[in-house]
Amino acid sequence: MTDIKRIGIITSGGDCGGLNAVIKGAARMANALDIETYVIPNGYAGLYNLVEFESLTRLTSDRIDNVDAALAGSEAGHSRVKIKKIKDEGKYERIKKGLAKFGIDALVISGGDDSGSVMVDLDGQGIPCVHVPKTMDLDLQTYSVGADSTINRIANFTVDLKTTGRTHNRIIVLEVFGRYAGHTALRGGIGADADCILIPEIPADFDVVYEHVKKVYMDRIRASDVNAGTYILIVAEGLRDAGGKELVDESAGVDAFGHKRLAGAGKFVRQELSRRFAADPEIPVFMKEQGLFVEELYMAPEVREVRPGHLVRCGRSSAFDVNFGKEGGAAAIFLLLEGLSGITVVEVDGSNILYKPTAEVIEQRLVDMDIVSLYETQGVCFGREPQQFSPVITRHEGKVCRHL
Ligand code: F6P
Repeated sequence: MTDIKRIGIITSGGDCGGLNAVIKGAARMANALDIETYVIPNGYAGLYNLVEFESLTRLTSDRIDNVDAALAGSEAGHSRVKIKKIKDEGKYERIKKGLAKFGIDALVISGGDDSGSVMVDLDGQGIPCVHVPKTMDLDLQTYSVGADSTINRIANFTVDLKTTGRTHNRIIVLEVFGRYAGHTALRGGIGADADCILIPEIPADFDVVYEHVKKVYMDRIRASDVNAGTYILIVAEGLRDAGGKELVDESAGVDAFGHKRLAGAGKFVRQELSRRFAADPEIPVFMKEQGLFVEELYMAPEVREVRPGHLVRCGRSSAFDVNFGKEGGAAAIFLLLEGLSGITVVEVDGSNILYKPTAEVIEQRLVDMDIVSLYETQGVCFGREPQQFSPVITRHEGKVCRHL
């Protein structure tokens, strides 16, 4: 056991569900072990400027009691600042001075791939730190808090949008955050019976998408005794077209990490479907058959796009994320006390705290194409010719259920 007395807590990157649970789990476990924890406010910007702070907030049991673990966002605040990119040559010395000023021996850092890479950098500079995985994008090698909350929010939006879609016989395109991985679009969409899920891992073939939309939508309305039907597509913001071109609005700019802000994929999909509906001679025939057609006013189904943006990662945290976050935060304290640094909590399995080097954990994980074909075989469109699911059957050894 090391002689750690004071730990700073940093949360960083895009906010999401479960972060307050990480803070609470870490602070409560530290309090139980007579170790003090402090909030380093506003991510790495706060860490860089720590030396200029007059005081820091200590997470006493009263103070931590005021943090609602069930709320998303982070009591510690965030910024998207990459320490390596700060021009000041004395930046690491400045950070160390700030930590020394408040007697902070080590850091718990909760963040995604970018924040994790900064953590690896800080560890390399001799600052002890342990990472608790966080990202709504779910694209780390481990589970990360925030993902389950976001997936549930996307699923709820999808269910809700079907009521307005069906009432107006509209096709709904829901564009969701997730950067260049399709996990949240896939899991949220499947969680709510979406008809089509377009993810960055599969360049979208709009001939395939259109044929699926048209068939499912028409069949639904034809089968309805009130001529009603809708069709919903979940579109991941990092989608590419069949030629591999990103469908983004380049005017959206870049964030402080230097990443392109992704927006525009949903709009592109809406325009593409609307164009095809307008040009398809079978569409007016179908509209007339269903008593929908009105010359000039209503000659083709409407396609609407919804972009919830930050609504997918705010509000309440899922109970799963609160559990994982509290366990991860608590585990990070034990790992620091063990003298470990530059590592990520993978999970708490009974009394076992499992970890991995952060450099390995932050390697991007993409959607497994076998899972995609499992759903394609069940009729969900993924913007390519469906592939048959071919399972490999294996008897599982060891513990099956690790969480909850
Ligand atoms: O990485 C998390 C994430 O929510 C992405 O899915 C999204 O592209 C991005 O953050 C948005 O970030 P910001 O809140 O900085 O605009």
